[in-house]
Amino acid sequence: MIHSELLKRVPLFEELSDGELDALSQVALLRTFPKDRVVIMAEEEGDSLFVIHDGQVKVSIVSEDGREVILSILGEGNFFGEMSLLDGHPRSANVTTTQETELLMVRRADFLRFIQKSPKTAIKLLSVLASRLRVTDRKIEGLALSDVTGRITQTLLQLADEQGVPTQEGVVIKDRPTHQDLANMSGTTRETVSRILRRLENQGYIVPRGRDLLIVGTDLKDQVQ
Ligand code: CMP
Repeated sequence: MIHSELLKRVPLFEELSDGELDALSQVALLRTFPKDRVVIMAEEEGDSLFVIHDGQVKVSIVSEDGREVILSILGEGNFFGEMSLLDGHPRSANVTTTQETELLMVRRADFLRFIQKSPKTAIKLLSVLASRLRVTDRKIEGLALSDVTGRITQTLLQLADEQGVPTQEGVVIKDRPTHQDLANMSGTTRETVSRILRRLENQGYIVPRGRDLLIVGTDLKDQVQ
């Protein structure tokens, strides 16, 4: 059984009363997945919602020519797997851990019962889905309008926005995605990402720090065409 304090820290459930949290903690399972483990496979039947207690996952699809396209990277407190539970269709994308990740699993019937009983949780869920649609809209706009530098820059700014840690020098993206993952998020190749990151570094927009990346000030926005 999962302690309800742990569930309370998840933004989706923060509006639940103590009684509701207790009830949810009785039906949620906590499981640890190693790095690079497929948690959800596109096109399969969906029967659970997952909440990230600790760690990170990537949401991806495979294009017709076999390339991986990363739709989103989700970290602690985020959830996934809700779409199949809500519309009854197969899973819309693959979800894979990018590091060792602890996930809370809630089965379909329990999840649906909770959102029926708690309008605040349902509204929170809709608000997250609306934000994801906005991000996807911006991405489509970027793919249609920007050149490759603009697309890579937009990916970095999105990562900084979603998971960056503000410091006096700028925003630090901790444990940044690999060049291949950045390429799969920006619709380009690993070689192009490496070349453009080197250029942005030479121009002083970014500073690599091991696995972290510092985005210096706000000037990087000027690179999005
Ligand atoms: P589901 O379709 O059940 O399984 C795959 C999950 O990936 C999906 O639910 C969502 O939770 C998540 N997902 C799909 N598309 C996106 C997206 N564009 N941004 C963030 N998450 C997504």
